[in-house]
Amino acid sequence: MNFKAFVTEETENGFVSNVIERTLDDLPEGDVLIKVLFSSLNYKDALSASGNKGVSRNYPHSPGIDAAGIVEESNSDEFSVGDEVIVTGYDLGMNTSGGFSEYIRVPKEWIIKKPDNFDLEESMAYGTAGLTAGLCVRKILLSGVKPVDGEVFVTGATGGVGIIAVMLLAKLGFEVVAITGKDTETDLLLSLGAKEVINRSEFEGDIKSPLAKPRWAGGVDAVGSDILSNLITATHQRAAIACCGMVGGVNLNTSIFPFILRGLSLLGIDSAETLIDVKKEIWNNFASDWKLEKINDQIKDVGLEELFSEIDKILKGQQIGRVRLKN
Ligand SMILES: NC(=O)c1ccc[n+]([C@@H]2O[C@H](COP(=O)([O-])OP(=O)(O)OC[C@H]3O[C@@H](n4cnc5c(N)ncnc54)[C@H](OP(=O)(O)O)[C@@H]3O)[C@@H](O)[C@H]2O)c1
Repeated sequence: MNFKAFVTEETENGFVSNVIERTLDDLPEGDVLIKVLFSSLNYKDALSASGNKGVSRNYPHSPGIDAAGIVEESNSDEFSVGDEVIVTGYDLGMNTSGGFSEYIRVPKEWIIKKPDNFDLEESMAYGTAGLTAGLCVRKILLSGVKPVDGEVFVTGATGGVGIIAVMLLAKLGFEVVAITGKDTETDLLLSLGAKEVINRSEFEGDIKSPLAKPRWAGGVDAVGSDILSNLITATHQRAAIACCGMVGGVNLNTSIFPFILRGLSLLGIDSAETLIDVKKEIWNNFASDWKLEKINDQIKDVGLEELFSEIDKILKGQQIGRVRLKN
């Protein structure tokens, strides 16, 4: 059987992507064949589609770290033909042919049955970006930070992770300060629940002192580098910051003082390798107590052929909200 897939190839002129026909024999071995109805675009997919060997070593390759669809063949007792399932992370879209395709074949351990009160289309409004925002919030809550403790920040606030973190923290009652490079999106961020929006330029540059006036009870950081370094200097006692991204750079300039004098917790998030039971917990939360009423307003739906321009936009930091792939 032939199907369509977005495939990136390494050529003499660099990495080139096309939508081409593939066959089921092109897919890797695996327990379960899934017809992909929806996927979504994440920053990592854009890196994979541009030949970043830290993400995908072998080409030709189909990116797509997310997929939601229907089981078509199964060698596992846990999954039956017709089951509606979600796959995010692990090796999907990295070195295993990913969700930018009409079919994937994956190990059973990567698969989650869609929760009740949640449809596959909605799941890919969240995708890995949403899962990551959820994991950040989960760790902040587990560390004991509560809405009464004060303001929490979200960096990269208009991006995929950021926009969902803003909505989720606001829903849970936190005073959210959105930090963004896009002044044009202030009204959007306020409408999603931020109580204040600050331009990220205020946090750029070297840290001035290892400890600044305390402001933050916690935060979700998707950008890293100077911005995170500066935010770390200005936390209250027992604050917790979840860090997941590096669009601003990979370095961190900090000292031991925020940790030993203010008890700061810096919480690392790796959504891809998160234990499957924790992923299930987050999906169940989004299907119930954490359901975000405005999530569908922040989605752009595209087909495989439209991914090219969206990948370009996410690499330039110009994406607002989420891009969902509909096959
Ligand atoms: N650790 C994990 O498990 C995990 C999972 C998912 C994503 N991530 C990472 O999290 C980050 C965000 O992912 P995403 O899917 O949300 O990407 P995204 O949609 O492109 O959002 C990133 C946002 O960061 C801001 N930004 C862009 N360039 C910047 C720069 N040079 N300096 C500071 N801010 C900048 C922009 O928002 P504003 O204009 O509003 O500032 C942009 O929209 C990426 O690094 C991604 O790899 C990690």
